Order: sequence, then structure tokens, then C-alpha cells
Amino acid sequence: MTTATTGRTTPKGVVGTAHTRVEGVEKVTGAARYAGEIPFADLAHGWLVLSTVARGRIISVEDGPVLAMPGVRAVLHHGNAPRLETHFQGVIGPPDPTTTLFQNDRVAHLGWPVALVVAETSEQAREAAESLLVHYEEEPHDVDFRGDRPEAYPVDGFAPGVVEKGDLEAELAASAHVVDAQYTTPEEHHSMMEPHAAAARWDGGRLEIVDSNQSTTWVQSDLAQMFSLEPSAVRVRSEHIGGGFGSKGVRVHQVAAVMAATVLQRPVRVVLTRRQMFPLTGYRSPTSQRVRLGADAEGRLRALEHRSVSQTSTVHTFVEPSAGVPRVMVDAPAHHTANLVVPLDVPTPTFMRAPGEAPGSFALESALDELAEKCGLDPIELRVRNEPERSPVSGQPFGARNLLACFHEGARRFGWADRDPRPGVRREGRWLLGTGVAGASFHAGAGPSTALATAEADGSFTVRISAADIGTGARTALTLVAADALRVPVDRVRVHIGDSDFGPAMFAGGSMGTRSWAWAVDAAAEELRERLALGATIPPEGITVRSDTTDAVRRLAQTERHSYGAQFAEVAVDTATGEVRVRRMLGIFAAGRIVNPLTARNQLVGGMIWGISMALHEEAVRDRASGGLYGGDLAGYHVATHADVPLVEADWVEDHDPDDPVGIKGVGEVGVVGAAAAIANAVRHATGVRHRHLPIRPDRVL
Ligand code: MOS
Repeated sequence: MTTATTGRTTPKGVVGTAHTRVEGVEKVTGAARYAGEIPFADLAHGWLVLSTVARGRIISVEDGPVLAMPGVRAVLHHGNAPRLETHFQGVIGPPDPTTTLFQNDRVAHLGWPVALVVAETSEQAREAAESLLVHYEEEPHDVDFRGDRPEAYPVDGFAPGVVEKGDLEAELAASAHVVDAQYTTPEEHHSMMEPHAAAARWDGGRLEIVDSNQSTTWVQSDLAQMFSLEPSAVRVRSEHIGGGFGSKGVRVHQVAAVMAATVLQRPVRVVLTRRQMFPLTGYRSPTSQRVRLGADAEGRLRALEHRSVSQTSTVHTFVEPSAGVPRVMVDAPAHHTANLVVPLDVPTPTFMRAPGEAPGSFALESALDELAEKCGLDPIELRVRNEPERSPVSGQPFGARNLLACFHEGARRFGWADRDPRPGVRREGRWLLGTGVAGASFHAGAGPSTALATAEADGSFTVRISAADIGTGARTALTLVAADALRVPVDRVRVHIGDSDFGPAMFAGGSMGTRSWAWAVDAAAEELRERLALGATIPPEGITVRSDTTDAVRRLAQTERHSYGAQFAEVAVDTATGEVRVRRMLGIFAAGRIVNPLTARNQLVGGMIWGISMALHEEAVRDRASGGLYGGDLAGYHVATHADVPLVEADWVEDHDPDDPVGIKGVGEVGVVGAAAAIANAVRHATGVRHRHLPIRPDRVL
């Protein structure tokens, strides 16, 4: 399966060929140091104390006895902490008051940060923190998320809250087939392998922070504003990162470390425990989504409504924009979408891999499957009949939209043509078998970045960019891009990342990291190669070229562009226990030019496995009495394990973003999109029962 491509190709280049991670040996031998283990002389250790009430005020913090404990150097809390700037426009918006620590006596949720104990050792800090008595005036709390809460209000996030065109009720009334269904997804957590950790120290009037984050630019800029410093007075490094998934932006650990390092005038490290991550580092909000679809007799949509309600905290607004999915996937004369939030006494949710798309695709792609069934159409044929040429919202053309190519190639490889559409007819002993399909999309954008490319006197090349490799293989991808742009072998290029001193760069998020950085690396390396081609002699300090893509990336605004995919799943459902086993999954994606097939496949397969987890396992349950989670740790929060993951294959059709210098779109998030819907649709096909609430637990199946 190929589609026409335009733009530059590099026939003999390394972009597009499999390459193991350039830092792989360092990582597997333990030589790669993470933020929590980089040594500092005279390091003190901070331990956070979290509230034991879900709402109220702190009356007093009994720090006296704790200050007398062995090794304790300070107890910071709202009564003595340095004042911070709390009103500013950060890199992604105003700061979440959860992160501007200890500025008042309010407690906004269970597990709210109320104090930091600093001691000579981590063990001493922990023991003292666990002994600290905090007195509260408790107030009644409300953590009861429901989709029908009347306080729900629409919120503009990165997209408008409400987008409406056409007369919805009239088109529904005139439709031959109507689906009206309510879907729910639970609170979900991205508890990445490496917990949040940061060390901060003052060094000759400059603040240095060693951290684990998705953007040193973001952390540098926001912390500088919070502590009223010039950005140039703050250096943030974050070289190796054990997962991010949206959670590793500005968080309490960096702020706590900087506060303590400032008060004590010595280096301080703060590492979060797994249990502290659950209330403090963001999560995916539960959603309640109503989808109404109306189609004519041929299965062409006349009406679409997608209304999604999610929760936020009482101190900060974050919207999970699930209703954004139909704005990309399908059009209809009446097309109404709305994202609403309910503020509750809960931690602020945040970006979690495919925010909006992951839960939104579960609802929409399930509803489309329901509609196909009502229309007597194959679900892929329904998609073919409803494939839009232009954005239903902006009216802009879709750049390089290869969604149908994904469906067709996936159908061929999965053996879709042999499928008996009747539900509940395939049996194997006590197992019922079924197959399902769903579409996927994720926005493909780029953010401004700067890069430095240096020709060294020894004939090698050094690239510096404040990129973040959160496990994606970004550093390796950038090495390949630089090698091609310089027309040199890979082993002559070294890429240094994760240092704010390299200049501002896009964050590792929105599936835009590698794409944005590659653009800047390509620009700097190309210009350097041109300079060298003119016969420049290289001085001992080398020749350095700096790129800045701020103007270049603007051209992307002319069209709406996305990565796409088609997810196929086969499941077996145990009629005795209600257990659902995924037997195989196939995802075919159109995600732009693939820089490194090895790590791109990892990204896509990782997303699909997350989809299995979302469909069948993940569910954080909030206890109304305490306001906290039942089992807010990896013992109580179930994720897919090896035994749950069968053959999962990801591949792609040729796709090339003609407006990108390398042709990249992005692979970080599209892999999870639609995966849960494909599984739910397969369960429906296997059993004849539609599951609209995730996860599809055995007790729900029986
Ligand atoms: Mo991703 S959820 O945009 O880090």
C-alpha cells in the first residue's frame, strides 16, 4: 500500500532505517544516571508531607518536635515558606496552585502538599515527615463524579469547548437510523517507571536543577517566573527520563527542591514515592460521554452529537477534550460537540497519553460500530461512506489524510474480509470469539525550537538541543536526522539533549517532540553543511550554527493535519468467568515519515498495549468517604501485564507531511487511540453484548 509522497527524499540516508538507541548501552549497563541518583556534594533530602483530609484549612503544623529529630534541617509549610509568584502565564498556561507550594492554608484534596521536611538523609527526612503532626479544620468534600452533574460547564482548552453547526434535533428526526448512547471511562493514571525527582542547588548566583521532565524549557521558564528570577539565571537539565506520558511538566518536586535549596543554601533533592505520584502528578479524568448519531438509509451521517463531561479540581481547570475526536473523524450536516468539566475536591487531572483522543475515541468509535450494525453495514464500509474531505469544524482541507488507507491495509492483513458479521456465532469450547475495528487520529503539529550544530575540529559533529527523550527514542531519531542533513555517517554525530542552556525548544508532548526538534536540527545541520561546503577551515573551538524554527513552523497552520490509524482486535470471551482475553491486535498507521522504524514501532505497540490496559484493566476508584483512591499505587491499580498482551503488531502505510522538511508527523500518541474501542467492538461481536463502560471487567461481562 503506497500513497503519493512529495518533498525531499534521501535515498541513501539513514532516516527510515532501523537503529538501536544511541544511549542503549549506557541505559542497560546502569551508566545512564537519572535525576534521583545523580550525586551532589553536601546534598540534603526533602520529603513531602501530604494532607490527610480532602478539604479544609491547616490550623497548625507542629514542627518543633520534628526539628529536634536526627538530621532534620528544616520544615517548610505555609507559615514559613518563601513567597512565590502565583499569577503568571506559563509555557502551557497559568500555574496549577498545587505546584505553587505552601502559599496559603487551604487544602484542596486528599494528598495535598502541606509541608516539606528536609534532612541529611532521605531516611531521616522520611521518618520525620511521617511523624509531623498537622492539625486541620476539616470541611465536607465532594468527589462524586457523574456525567449528569448540573454544575458541569463548557471549557475551552486547546480547542473550543463547544462547536456546533446545523440543526441537530431536525437531522436526528429525519434520520433512518439513530444511535443514542452513554459511555464512561474511569479515572486512569500514568504512573511511569521513573518517579518524579529533582535536585536543586545555587551555584554562583545561578539556580541549577537536575530533573526528570518532558521539557527543560518549560520547567526553566515557569520556575523562573515563580521564583522571580531571570530565565538565564535558571538552568534545568534532564538527560535521561524513565517515562513521562504527559505527567512530567512543572510539578511539586521541582518547586519543593528549589524552595529548600534557597532556604538552606545547599543542594536539596526531592523524590516522590509511587504512592505520592497518584495524588500529586496528574491523571486522566474519568469521562461520561453521550454520543448521538443519525444516519440516512445508506449510512451517511446526518447528525452527530458528542458531549463529554470530565472532572477538574477546585483550584485549576483542566479539561479532557474527548468530544474533539469527531471534529477530526467524521462530518455531518448537524455536528455538535462539547467538552464540559465539573470541579470537585480532587487532584487536578492533566495530559495523559492522547488526552481527549483516548477516551473520546472509545465513545465515538463504539458508537460508529453501533451505527454500522443498525445500518446493516460493515463498520469499515460505514467509514468509507463518511470520510470527510475537509475539517467539519474549520472547513480547512485535511493535509495528507490517509485514514482509509489504514483501514484497507489493516483489513487485508487482518483477514477482515472473512469475518462473519453476526455476533455471538464463533465458539471455541467455552470461549466466544469476535473481532472489532476502530479508527484513530491524533493532531500532528510542531512547536518552535532552537538547535545548535557544531562542526568539530576532529571531523565529528555535535548537535545540542533541549529535547527530552522520555523513552521515545528521540535522541536516536535526532541523530539520524542530523546525520542525513550533514551527509555523514551516524557515528560522526553526537546529540546532546535535555539542557535548557541549549536554548528554548518544544516539549516532549502532543506527539510533537521529535517532529519539532528534527525540524530545528535539520535546519541547523543543513546550514552548517552549506557553510562547510564553501570550504571553511574549522578552528579549534569548531564552527557552530544555530537554528530557530519559530517562523518556519507557522506554515503548518494552513491546513489541519493529523496522524491516523486503524486498529483491529480479536478477542476471546470466557462464558464461564467473563474474562476477556485479547488474542491479537493489528494497528496500521499513517503517521508521517518514520524516522526510526525500531523505536517508532515501540511507540505504536506501547500505545496499543495501553489500549488493552484501558479496555480491560485500568480503573482508579475514588472513595467518597476519604476522598482518596482505593489502592492508589501499582499494587492496587491494575495495568496489562505480559500475560495480557498477545501478538500486537504495528505497521504503517507510506505517509509524508509535505510541509515538514523531513516529512514527519508524529507517533507518540496515535497508538493508544481507538485501541480500546476495537477491543470493545470485538467483545460485542463475540458475545452480542455491547459494553459502554470501561474497563470491561469480568463482573460486567457476566
Ligand atoms: Mo503527551 S499526554 O502530550 O505528554
